[in-house]
Amino acid sequence: MSPAQRTSQLRTEILEHDRRYYIDAAPSISDRDYDALFRELRELEEAHPELLTPDSPTQRVGGKPLEGFRQVAHSVPMLSLDNLYADKDGPAAVAKWIQSVEKLLPGETLEWLLEPKVDGVAVSLRYEDGGLALGATRGDGDHGDDITQNLRTIRSLPLRLHGAPPVLEVRGEVYMPLEGFGRFCESLQAAGEPPFANPRNAAAGSLKLLDPREVAKRPLEIVLYGLGETPEGAPDTQDGLLQWLATFGFRTPRFFRLCHSAAEVVDAILALDAVRDSFGFETDGAVIKLNTIGLRARAGFTARAPRWARAYKFVPEQAETVLRGITVQVGRTGALTPVAELEPVHLRGSTISRATLHNADEIREKDIRIGDAVIIQKAGEVIPAVLNVVLSKRNPLAEPFDFANHLGGKCPACGGDIVKNPDFAVWLCPNLHCPAQRTRRLEYMAKRTALDLEGLGGIVADKLVESGLVKHPLDLFALEQNQTLSPQLASLNLGTTEDPRVFGPKNAQKLSAAVQRARTLPLARWLHALAIPEVGETIAHALAASHQDIPQVATSELLKNVLRREELRKLVEDSNPKSRRHKEAPPQEAERLLETHTAARQELRSIEESLLSSGFAKKSKRKTDEEGIVCTVGPNVAGAVLAYFTSDAGTELLRRLKQLGIHPVSAANPTSPGHLSGKTFVLTGTLPTLKRPEAAERIRLAGGSVTSSVSRKTDYVVAGAEAGSKLEEATQLGIPILDEAGLLAMLEAGGSQPGRQTLQGELF
Ligand code: IVH
Repeated sequence: MSPAQRTSQLRTEILEHDRRYYIDAAPSISDRDYDALFRELRELEEAHPELLTPDSPTQRVGGKPLEGFRQVAHSVPMLSLDNLYADKDGPAAVAKWIQSVEKLLPGETLEWLLEPKVDGVAVSLRYEDGGLALGATRGDGDHGDDITQNLRTIRSLPLRLHGAPPVLEVRGEVYMPLEGFGRFCESLQAAGEPPFANPRNAAAGSLKLLDPREVAKRPLEIVLYGLGETPEGAPDTQDGLLQWLATFGFRTPRFFRLCHSAAEVVDAILALDAVRDSFGFETDGAVIKLNTIGLRARAGFTARAPRWARAYKFVPEQAETVLRGITVQVGRTGALTPVAELEPVHLRGSTISRATLHNADEIREKDIRIGDAVIIQKAGEVIPAVLNVVLSKRNPLAEPFDFANHLGGKCPACGGDIVKNPDFAVWLCPNLHCPAQRTRRLEYMAKRTALDLEGLGGIVADKLVESGLVKHPLDLFALEQNQTLSPQLASLNLGTTEDPRVFGPKNAQKLSAAVQRARTLPLARWLHALAIPEVGETIAHALAASHQDIPQVATSELLKNVLRREELRKLVEDSNPKSRRHKEAPPQEAERLLETHTAARQELRSIEESLLSSGFAKKSKRKTDEEGIVCTVGPNVAGAVLAYFTSDAGTELLRRLKQLGIHPVSAANPTSPGHLSGKTFVLTGTLPTLKRPEAAERIRLAGGSVTSSVSRKTDYVVAGAEAGSKLEEATQLGIPILDEAGLLAMLEAGGSQPGRQTLQGELF
C-alpha cells in the first residue's frame, strides 16, 4: 500500500473511532490501539509533508494565534427566535401561537418538533466537498466572526464528512457541559482567576479566545439542529433532518418529540422539563418548530425571527432580590467564604436565602454592596451565586464592601488575624486550632463517603468541639481507645445550659461503634477523611490505587515524579534553542541551551515512562493538549500533598495515626486483592445514574478490569439505555448481562466501596 493510501486509510479509521468515542460514547478499540493509529499517521505525515491536509485528525489544533477574527457574511441569515415565557405566558400561549400558524397555513395538517433549547452559543458550519471550510458565530445575524480554528478543536465536531452534498451548511450550538464547567471553574479558581458565572459565558468566552491551543483545553461540545443553505437531497422534515445530520457524524439533540397538537406540545414541554436536569448541560427552554420544512417559507418571518418556531423559556433560574448582609464561613482549610444573606426568593423549586459570593475579589470586581438589589442564579446543581448588581436600584449611600475591614481583620470564628493568600483570591484564617475549622474537619471526616460516622453531623460536631472533647478529628479515636467515647457522648449536651438536651446512651453507643469500625476502613476512605489539602474523594481513591498506606503517600515517589515532570517540561520549553526568544543567542549560548534541552528531554522521557509503567499516568487520548501523557493527579495536587506531610500538621497526623494503631491499607493492595479481581467487564449504553468513567473506576477499585470490546474473555457486560452491538454480542456469547443495579450489588458485595459522590458544598 502506498503512503498516500495508508494515510487516507488511517484518517478514515481514526475519524470513525473519534465518532464512536465522542459521539456514540462507545469506543470499539483500546486507547493504546487508538494511539498507535494516531502515531502512525503523524509519522507518515511527517515523512511525507505533501500528504498533509487540513482535515487530518492530527490537525485539530493547527493554526497560530490570531490577531483578531475576520468578519464573514452568512449566506442565509442566522435568525433568532421569538420567546414564550413559562412564567408570563404559560402553556396557553403555546396553543395561541399554534393557532396563529394554522391560520397562516389553512388546510394543512401541521406537525411540531420539540427540541431542548441548549444554553450555549449559536454557530454555523460550512462544509465544502466534505471538508470543514468555515465556522462562524451568529454575530448580528448577517455577519459573524470566523472562528473556524477554534471550532476545529471541538472533538465532537467532524472535520470531514462522507457522502455529504458539495456544500453543506449546518447550524447548532456550542456549549460547555456542567461537569466540565465545574472542573474548569475549579482550575480557574486554583489559578486565582475569577470563575465564569455560567456555562454559557464560559463557552462564549472560550470561542472568543484568539489562541486555538487554549480553546482546545476547554471542555466544549457541539450539537447541530438546523441548516443554513438547503442542499439538494435534504429531508423535508425536522425529525428527518436530525436523522440525516446524524448520518454524517454530527451530534444532534437526543431528546426530541414529534407532536400533532398544542396539547401534545405542552405535554412534551413538561416531559422535557422533567428530564432536562439529567442532560449534563444547561437548557433554558424548549424550541418548538414546524416539522414540515417545506411549509416554513409560507408561514414566513417577522423582522428577526421565523413565525414557524418559538422558544418556550422555562421559569428563569435567575431572580432578583436584596442583599441584606454578608456573613463569612470558615472552611475546613481555613478559607473564608463570603456568603450573601438574601431576602428570601423563589428560584427553580426552592426558596433561596443564601448564595455564595466566592471570595473577596469577586465582591470587589462586581462591586457588590450591602443593601443592593442583586440578581442571583442557580445553574444546574451548582450552588446559587450572586450574578450581578442592579445598579439602577442602588442606594446612593451604599458603601463599597471591604472584606478585611468588614471582619475587622479577624476570623469570625476564633478572632485570630486573617491573611490573604497572595497566590489566590481567598482570605484565610491560618489558625489550625480555629474551632470553626475543627468542626468542619470533623464533619468532613464523618461524611458517608469518608469514614461514614453517622450521627456526627451539624450540632453534634459543633458541641464536641465547643466542649473541648475533640480538637483534632483523631481525638475521637483516642477517646474510643480508652473507652471514654461512649459515656462522654452519652452526656454531651446538645442544647443550652438552661435548656439541656443530651445525646443519650443509645446514640452514643451507635456512634462509638461506627468509630471503632472506621479503624479498619481502607486507605482511600481514610485519605478522603483526613482533609488533606486538595484531596477530595476522587483524588483519595486515585492515590489509594497506587499507594500501599499513608506513610507511602507522604513520601510518594510518584507524586515527586509528577512535580519533577512539571519542572522538566518548563525547562524543556525554556531551553528550546529553536524558540523565538533564543533565535539571536550567540553560538556558545546556543550550544549550552541545546545541552540543557537535550538532558531535560531525556530525563522527562524517563520520568514519563516510569509514571506510565507504574500506572500513575496514561497516554493522553486528546492529542490536542500535546501532553502525550496524563497523570492521575496534577502538579498542584502532588505539591499540596507532599507539602502537607512535611508540615507540622502532617507530621503530627502521621505520629498520631501510629500512636493510635490506625494503619489503613489500600484495597488495591496486592496482598488483599479486590473481590472482583480477575473479572473483566465491558460497559455499554447509558446507565441511569453512574457515568461510564465512574462505573469503570469503581470496577477497577474492586480489582476488576474494564475493556472496550466483548470477547469470550469478558465475564460481564453492564448494559444501560441504548446499548448497541456489544449487548448483542454478549447475548450471542452467553455472557451474563448486568444492569446498573446488578453492578452496584456486585460492587457492594465487597463491602468497602464508596457510595456515589454527592455534590456536597461546605457552604450550608
Ligand atoms: S433553532 C431560525 N433550535 O436559541 C431558528 N435554536 O433564542 C434558529 N438554540 O439563536 C434557531 N437550542 O442559538 C434552535 N434546538 C434549538 C436550539 C436553538 C438553542 C439557540 C440558538 C438561537 C437561540 C434563539
